[in-house]
Amino acid sequence: MTNVIIVAIDGPAGAGKSTVAKTLAKKLGFLHIDTGAMYRSVTLAALRQKADLKNDLELEKIARESKIELKPGEPENMVFLNGEDVSKEIRTPEVTRASAHIANSVPVRKILVARQQQMGRNDSATYGGAVLEGRDIGTDVFPDAQYKFYLDASVETRAERRLRDLERAGTASTLEKVMAEVKARDERDMNRAVGGLRKTSESIVMDHSDLTVDQSAEELFQYIRQNPR
Ligand code: C5P
Repeated sequence: MTNVIIVAIDGPAGAGKSTVAKTLAKKLGFLHIDTGAMYRSVTLAALRQKADLKNDLELEKIARESKIELKPGEPENMVFLNGEDVSKEIRTPEVTRASAHIANSVPVRKILVARQQQMGRNDSATYGGAVLEGRDIGTDVFPDAQYKFYLDASVETRAERRLRDLERAGTASTLEKVMAEVKARDERDMNRAVGGLRKTSESIVMDHSDLTVDQSAEELFQYIRQNPR
């Protein structure tokens, strides 16, 4: 690897990875790459084209033809699909649900992993490094990352956060329902044949159920400062 620093943040849905990664990248002056947004963008493209979500050939073609750009923004980063701002649309419950099929597609993963490696290695060169967040960053995308964080939080905490997000977006739900969804997503994320979420012997495991996003990002930042690599 060239002399860029790669910070991998993996963990289950709702552990706060996106906001922590964004804040941490800002503190470090690094590029932030939200890989979940890339899977979501391909999902949106597939839904719009009414593709068969179980047909790898169709999905592969869609992934190949999807130009996905991640741009820094406040309070949220922006995501463009073939030049169109889809930042909001990729976060709907429909896309969240359907994204499990896209995440299961081996050819799609191949395409997106290669793009993430390219972004991490080359696009981040001017920044000195990149913070990538997802499920398989420390295992498949950058197994040689200098820092591999595994950000965890209890099911209860993650469900409460998710419920608040849904309420903010104007979608009604209940804690019970959201907890069941969080557990189901964990199950899918951890048991995927390729690109499944798992800790490695090098993972720096942190459970930040009781921390705010800012405190959590600060913990990671201090770890990196105190452990230069
Ligand atoms: O993290 P987020 O909820 O945005 O992820 C969207 C979808 O992409 C989920 O289904 C998740 O399992 C999948 N994903 C993945 N690999 C990654 C990042 C996300 O399979 N590196």
